[in-house]
Amino acid sequence: MTATKSVVPDGAKAAPKDAITLLRADHEDVNRMFAAYAHTHTGPAKKALVAEICKALTVHAQIEEEIFYPEVQTALKDKLLVPDAAVEHAGVKVLIAQLESAEPDGKTYDAQVQVLSEQVRRHVKEEQNEIFPQARSWSLDMMDLGTRMSARKEDLLDQAA
Ligand SMILES: [Fe+2]
Ligand SMILES: [Fe+2]
Repeated sequence: MTATKSVVPDGAKAAPKDAITLLRADHEDVNRMFAAYAHTHTGPAKKALVAEICKALTVHAQIEEEIFYPEVQTALKDKLLVPDAAVEHAGVKVLIAQLESAEPDGKTYDAQVQVLSEQVRRHVKEEQNEIFPQARSWSLDMMDLGTRMSARKEDLLDQAA
């Protein structure tokens, strides 16, 4: 477990962030964890890191679905962006469920992690290139939204601990 500590997200304990800064920081944390997987070689270390990745992705998806997406939906010109994102989340959750019940003792596990990382990368790109810019251009209080999301994130991380 200690080998993964340096790349594990530090919860929501930092200074208040606006909603988009918080989500971008989560994306970077997950990206760092996927990068660390390439240098993780033992089964137990892989399993521990994947558990952290899955937890971070699950909590992140939940705060987006519960708070961020409903709030920004009306701001977006492209009305399919949020439904598309929700479908992508559903796909990611299927991969997470498969990984959580898998053992890191063969090539399939690495392939599953790779497919998850590719799906997450594509999804993150869509959020950052399409959803976030359109959401920012709307008169939404991003600090208030960020504060609510941060509090919810902390609750969910506590529950998952
Ligand atoms: Fe998302
Ligand atoms: Fe996201």
